[in-house]
Amino acid sequence: MANARLENMVAPTDATLKQVMNLMSANTIGVVFICDSDGILRGVITDGDIRRAFLTGATVEQPCQPYLRPSYTAGRVGVPRNENLALMSRRILHLPLVDADGRLVDYLSWKDMWHVPLVSPSLSGNELRYVEECISTGWISSQGPFIQRFEAMARDFLGTGFALSTANGTLSLQLAIQALDIGPGDEVIVPNFTFGASANAVMQRGATPVFADIDPASWTLSPESVAALVGPRTKAIMPVHIYGQACDMDPIMDIARSHGLKVIEDCAEALGAEYKGRRVGSIGDVGCFSFFANKIITTGEGGLVTVNDPQLYERLKMLRDHGVKPERRYWHLEPGTNCRMTNLQAALGVAQMERVDEFLALRDRLAERYDAELAGIRGIVPHRAANWGRKVCWLYSVVVEPESFGMDRDSLLAALRELGVEARPVFPALDDQPAFVGSRAGDVEASRSLAVNGLSLPTGNEMSVIEVVRVVEALRILGRTE
Ligand SMILES: Cc1ncc(COP(=O)(O)O)c(C=O)c1O
Repeated sequence: MANARLENMVAPTDATLKQVMNLMSANTIGVVFICDSDGILRGVITDGDIRRAFLTGATVEQPCQPYLRPSYTAGRVGVPRNENLALMSRRILHLPLVDADGRLVDYLSWKDMWHVPLVSPSLSGNELRYVEECISTGWISSQGPFIQRFEAMARDFLGTGFALSTANGTLSLQLAIQALDIGPGDEVIVPNFTFGASANAVMQRGATPVFADIDPASWTLSPESVAALVGPRTKAIMPVHIYGQACDMDPIMDIARSHGLKVIEDCAEALGAEYKGRRVGSIGDVGCFSFFANKIITTGEGGLVTVNDPQLYERLKMLRDHGVKPERRYWHLEPGTNCRMTNLQAALGVAQMERVDEFLALRDRLAERYDAELAGIRGIVPHRAANWGRKVCWLYSVVVEPESFGMDRDSLLAALRELGVEARPVFPALDDQPAFVGSRAGDVEASRSLAVNGLSLPTGNEMSVIEVVRVVEALRILGRTE
């Protein structure tokens, strides 16, 4: 059976009541789906139906068929989660989900109505159709029409000269560092508050990350901290547009210009965010994006490098393809790699880019509702947009003030989990993690404090405003009530 969740949930059309009861006692949820030999859903039977069968004189060896519910409701895979949840009621606690041919693929349980997942990608646009197109035409590797289409859509959306698709965000950063000739002996200034990939990419190229602090209001790289860390070995600055908030780029670009440094924007979490009217990824020398499943748009795994300089673009393209000279096959000008995106990933990417404005608008609505609902809750301080541009809501994140809220961040995370709300801590500070100890760091007090008290709440392209209300209700229950 393809989906492990369906184990002990499916019986054939000629099953006896005994077989069905055995499955129910194994699955413990009191429902079994009846499917024919092609996997097509033919009926649903519950423990209540079995009880009624025995009350009318049935025996365990009799076929279950006459006792199936006369009609049943099924949801569809590939439609928004909330559309399926809306079909559930006190009568329908377990909803079978079928594909376009009526084949049983999964089911939703009443528990899912109360569970708010941290992230939920939305794949209900043209995703399936475009991926099927790749499979039926055979273009499944890193050549094919969706790659150019995806790169063109990303370039137009971001307003950059060039956009190069890659296998993921981390390799995008590594490629950018290599193309800018940064390597052993060189330092790159990175915020102490970011996902480890930003610093890992520097180290994977043999260079050394140096950790600067963040501005406690915007949570982004502090220009003052950067200025204090520039030294003779500094080659680049990596502003990370964290949790959808653009860094204060003007002073960072000024520092870079005055010291001849490169600027690599880590935009993994901030597709669509703006700084003074310009989209992130179009301001520094290079922009790097991630399309992991929890990002603003997803290609499963995937990434993008953006540049304005045509020569740098050609170099990135060459390095992404083993360092091979474009006009001479198998002739390696320098050691490169293979970190290309596949046409399959790009097919998802095109379908997602068709909906990027819809996703961003939905995330704005979720953030507005969170802001409004949280206003009455003491000790929960939202990450607010800075006044220098459009913040996008990647993961709606807050600081927990233990004294006012009545609980520290980690206790709150555990308590939320008990109430069915998936939240997660923000990134721990990097400077004292085993992988990075020994690296130079400034005074990193703000990043350390945020790392201890920050929390991200559910935010995703499938989330509804009702779910925001439910998350905040859980916070209200757990916080101080007086
Ligand atoms: C700030 C930041 N940089 C880099 C990455 C790496 O991207 P990927 O997971 O696609 O390699 C991520 C996300 O995962 C990220 O959040």
